[in-house]
Amino acid sequence: MFLTKYQERMLDGEMGVAISKCMELIVKIGELNNADKLIPIKSAQIAGVSYYTVGESIFSFLDIFSNEGVKVKVPSWLNPAGMDLLKWKDMGITKKFANKQKKIIQYYLDMGIEQTLTCTPYLIGNEPAFGDHLSWSESSAVSIANGFYGAKTNREGAPLALASAVLGLTSDYGLHKDENRVPKIMIDVQTDIKHFSDYSALGYWYGKNYHGHIPFFKGLDNSSVDQIKMLGAAMAASGSVAHFHVENQTPESKFVDLKSVNEKIVFSEEDKRKTYSIFHQIKENVDLVAIGCPHTSAEDLDIIYSYIKDKSLRPNIEFWVFSSRKKLETEVSEKMIQKLESKGIKIFTDTCMVVSPIVREKYKNIITNSAKAAFYLTRKGKTKVNLQSLEEISMEVFE
Ligand code: F3S
Repeated sequence: MFLTKYQERMLDGEMGVAISKCMELIVKIGELNNADKLIPIKSAQIAGVSYYTVGESIFSFLDIFSNEGVKVKVPSWLNPAGMDLLKWKDMGITKKFANKQKKIIQYYLDMGIEQTLTCTPYLIGNEPAFGDHLSWSESSAVSIANGFYGAKTNREGAPLALASAVLGLTSDYGLHKDENRVPKIMIDVQTDIKHFSDYSALGYWYGKNYHGHIPFFKGLDNSSVDQIKMLGAAMAASGSVAHFHVENQTPESKFVDLKSVNEKIVFSEEDKRKTYSIFHQIKENVDLVAIGCPHTSAEDLDIIYSYIKDKSLRPNIEFWVFSSRKKLETEVSEKMIQKLESKGIKIFTDTCMVVSPIVREKYKNIITNSAKAAFYLTRKGKTKVNLQSLEEISMEVFE
């Protein structure tokens, strides 16, 4: 790989051990993927925040940066943590876990990384621009950055995204190259896709059947970013799909030469029904509704309230919504939060149902409108999940 003189000096350790290790990692991964150079990035989104998912080993890793006072070079944001930073006791998180979690976050803050704690940085004023090179790591955020915004990022592992943030660089391969962003499969959506859960079911079905291939969707006109984020998150979860095009919607779709497509398939009503049936597992009492994967927007909260405003939550059921703190503080009125809370809905920020330990520990029968959440919550086999629309959920758990 070609390196500038300055990059060689960073690699050789002239700027310290931490910088040298970041260079080593980026160059090694780049060379494994036949990158011929490093390129500057505009921002980094860093996973590896939840103490539940990273465990004790994170501390010695972050010490490398802390010991030398290393700071990030580009705007950098944190993925969700394992708990709500203010309401962790309400979630049932222990003090020991909370202390460890706060310590991890402090390391990142000391490096100049923003405490966004969300997988939807693009919903809180950090939308990437078309063509920007990024180093983002959370799979749904990666998918939306590439697909919805036309920015360019591979799905980076957490250490690599952190190294990129520190250097302001990534290696030039994969989705940074235009030739790797063309679709090979066209999906003609021939069934009604209107609920968030429908987008999620479509994404889950596609990822499961066409693992890793970039799709071109027809038939999803006038979809919002909130709907598209459900599609992208589910495809990324079930099939590691990191980029997609939607006809008349996503910015690269108008430049796509459809001669690249070598397979055309239909997503039918029957495909949708079968996908929902995979996550129709609850045989006994529901104990939790978990909404907000990816993190909800203000629009989601309005929709939830419109369905339940004249009803009450049935006994023995918890209803949790996950969002980002900034979204809540800047776009959701205090009045709306009070109205939702008066219905028994608990709104948590900074975390989610998958990266917090508590959801899987405490609850066994969970309803969600996210196929990504359903996929991860059921992976260890102890939790049963139903995938349903917000409308169906409100009819089922409110009376
Ligand atoms: Fe976000 Fe957690 Fe889902 S990080 S995409 S809410 S699994």
